[in-house]
Amino acid sequence: MDSDELRSKYIEFFTRHGHAQIEGKSLIPENDPTVLFTTAGMHPLVPYLLGEPHPAGKRLVDYQKCIRTGDIDSVGDSSHLTFFEMLGNWSLGDYFKEGAIKMSFEFLSSPEWLGIPPEKLGITVFAGDENAPRDEESAAVWKELGIPESRISYRPKEDNWWGPAGSTGPCGPDSEMFYDIGKEPCGPDCGPGCACGKWLEIWNDVFMQYNKTGAGTYEPLARTCVDTGMGIERTVTILNGKKSVYDTEVFAPVIAAVTSIMKPGGHVYGGGESEDSPDKDRSIRIICDHVRSSTFVLGDPKALSPSNVGAGYVLRRLIRRAVRHGRKLGIESLVPVAQAVVDKFAGPYPELAANRASIMEELGREEARFLETLQKGEHEFEKLLPNLLKDPKKLMSGRLAFKLYDTYGFPVELTEELAAEKGMTVNRAEFDEAFKKHQELSRAQGGQVFKGGLVDQGEMAVKYHTATHLLHKALRMVLGDHAAQKGSNITAERMRFDFSHPAPMTAEEIKKVQDIVNEQIAADLPVTMEMMSLDEALAAGATALFGEKYESQVKVYTVGKSPADFFSKEVCGGPHVERTGGMGRFRIQKEQSSSAGVRRIRAALE
Ligand code: ALA
Repeated sequence: MDSDELRSKYIEFFTRHGHAQIEGKSLIPENDPTVLFTTAGMHPLVPYLLGEPHPAGKRLVDYQKCIRTGDIDSVGDSSHLTFFEMLGNWSLGDYFKEGAIKMSFEFLSSPEWLGIPPEKLGITVFAGDENAPRDEESAAVWKELGIPESRISYRPKEDNWWGPAGSTGPCGPDSEMFYDIGKEPCGPDCGPGCACGKWLEIWNDVFMQYNKTGAGTYEPLARTCVDTGMGIERTVTILNGKKSVYDTEVFAPVIAAVTSIMKPGGHVYGGGESEDSPDKDRSIRIICDHVRSSTFVLGDPKALSPSNVGAGYVLRRLIRRAVRHGRKLGIESLVPVAQAVVDKFAGPYPELAANRASIMEELGREEARFLETLQKGEHEFEKLLPNLLKDPKKLMSGRLAFKLYDTYGFPVELTEELAAEKGMTVNRAEFDEAFKKHQELSRAQGGQVFKGGLVDQGEMAVKYHTATHLLHKALRMVLGDHAAQKGSNITAERMRFDFSHPAPMTAEEIKKVQDIVNEQIAADLPVTMEMMSLDEALAAGATALFGEKYESQVKVYTVGKSPADFFSKEVCGGPHVERTGGMGRFRIQKEQSSSAGVRRIRAALE
């Protein structure tokens, strides 16, 4: 069964069971500042799960494009994806646990539908805690359907509870369905939900019973709902007995597009098990995943462009990472891969075909921008070369490699590649050490700003503190996102701010930066604080000190009209002014060198 058939069977099954098919929504959430992308099918339905009547009725079904970037670093293995499609059915105050579970079981096991033998299924239910009781009700329904007690696991909140990607909203216990691939159990405690690889999750039935409030309390919902989600890629993998999502028909044409533009005579894709180079297989998978995600974002009705904040920044990261892996395979442009994505998915997602031209244009433009950055780094490397070649050991110092990284954003892997072409190696241990030292330095310099207790909380110091955020953002807008904060120092009279930038700023750049800061002050923008995990903060577009170690929950300060429409967002200990209005006039007094590749600005509020 391929993905198209799975998608239509699902829709058909649930429409036969009285569900109205609704359109999947944009990848860019509407009116929801808690997430950057739509992360699940329930996401666009939150208002209805909280009680709004839905125009299509109480039983809904759809397929929804989703992006989750939490596991971006694992992409390239056999199962992780940043983009995926989710099948979902909902009950808005209609059926609850029994109805949902019975329909799930019928769709999974009936030969008319997926025909999975019931003995291959394993189930998890919520074990209960101080917020909600143990879910014996769901377990009883599964037992009634013939699932033996031995294949039902009770699991804690970390595993069997669904809350939205943001911290508030509709939530509740869930019951997850797993497919047993037949491997030996990893130990006596191995059961459904165990992460050893025996149990693959295919579907999740969430029983929405509570609204988690901003204060962290769980309020019972007046009307209970069901939200379910089945991942298309995973389910197709299981139904076809494949080892990896990348080995299914979903990715076949995309992988073919990548391999057709690789350096000829090179690597042959081996499904992640290549003997000659598993690394190259990994690169191929990363390209497939990242280009697929990027194509869907660029082809969305609410498409956005690569940028340095929020969802645009995630898009930029996805494209640039794919370009880097493409270079390893001798690929010059990823546009043909994006074309293959549009061809493959334009049936269920016609917006891709409608936006084909702009997708390719934006992708090409971002590739060119990134190449420029890379060329700058390469140029600097060439300049260093004559000296480097004098070393009889053909070893490039790690400090120099670090300088290229620090000043030009040139990735150390690329320095290593260039060095290898000249028969040299990079002293990686020294690079790593310089990198670590730099992190410690940033930490020490940032300490004053970032560790709440050490900060001068006087009125003027607090104003300067907010001014550093405005300045940081203005510098990035005017000079580019390499202009990252390296440290700052504040007294009641003035501020000093160090940031990475390779050359002195021009008078015009200084004026522009100063004007931007003063515009934000004149706009009297509110400054607000939220607590969240660092991942959530980064996903929400917050800047954090590179390499800084943060607590599990961080404070994020936003300067702007609303959480979505903001000027600056930074992870920071505070304190800050409540509004920018009373800060005074910001004047840059001096711009000078601080150390190699680092500039220093002295400024005052007058
Ligand atoms: N919203 C639930 C999930 O994504 C169904 O797992």
